[in-house]
Amino acid sequence: MLKEKFDLTGKTALVTGSTRGIGKAIGDAFEEYGAKVIRHNTKVCDLADPAAIDAFFDRLEAESSMPDILVANASIQAKVPWTEFPMDEARKEMQVNFFATLRMFQRCYPKMKAQKWGRLIVVGSVNELRPHPDMCVYAATKSAQENLVRGIGRQIASEGITVNNLSPGVFNTDRNRECLADPVYGPRVTAAIPMHDYAMPEDAAGAALLLASDAGRYITGATIRIDGGLCLPG
Ligand SMILES: NC(=O)c1ccc[n+]([C@@H]2O[C@H](COP(=O)([O-])OP(=O)(O)OC[C@H]3O[C@@H](n4cnc5c(N)ncnc54)[C@H](OP(=O)(O)O)[C@@H]3O)[C@@H](O)[C@H]2O)c1
Repeated sequence: MLKEKFDLTGKTALVTGSTRGIGKAIGDAFEEYGAKVIRHNTKVCDLADPAAIDAFFDRLEAESSMPDILVANASIQAKVPWTEFPMDEARKEMQVNFFATLRMFQRCYPKMKAQKWGRLIVVGSVNELRPHPDMCVYAATKSAQENLVRGIGRQIASEGITVNNLSPGVFNTDRNRECLADPVYGPRVTAAIPMHDYAMPEDAAGAALLLASDAGRYITGATIRIDGGLCLPG
């Protein structure tokens, strides 16, 4: 039965940044389909701090809660022209958006390999294809993440572990709420989207569930765009 292939009963999922926005919607969907979801935010483990990431995974290991499914969803972004972008901020974005993902992959992999089942999912951005002029650093961190997915995908494809990139377009979450409510900027953004609408956090949940479950077992190294057609040519 196809329905059963979406079932996550018995799986532990760590979704970073899952107390609000897209991460929360993904965590809620995984719970609805039976997974034990580890909710995460800056208070649980600040991904800007490499030592905190290892301490967090040490704790998960000690509690026998190492994830079968990892969704690297949390990210940070600053809107500053590249000519003035502070190097400390650039290093922090690279740490939170890319190095933290690499380290979490490294920590999750041994269990997934041993049990011959695992799901590594990153949340990217349409900025991989269409860098916002004032978010070039953020865009570069997302492209680095996408490239890591493709590099790793081939190497672990035969081990029952898939690794994929979910790439959102414009979602109405805390980071965008003010811009989208702006009477001039908001309609300009939606006019540029072929569907003429922005997404809500739940719009990412179905694709995440597909990638996290046995229903998506043959999908690896892929980028799935959830962007209302924003990246389509023309
Ligand atoms: N919203 C969009 O339109 C859009 C578009 C393209 C891509 N994306 C991507 O989608 C993902 C989710 O975006 P969102 O808009 O849902 O995010 P959001 O509403 O801004 O929520 C961000 C989440 O990440 C956590 N977080 C931020 N910095 C962290 C850190 N240093 N350490 C640990 N956790 C941290 C936050 O925790 P706290 O609550 O503790 O701050 C929060 O739970 C991101 O990767 C983003 O780049 C979003």
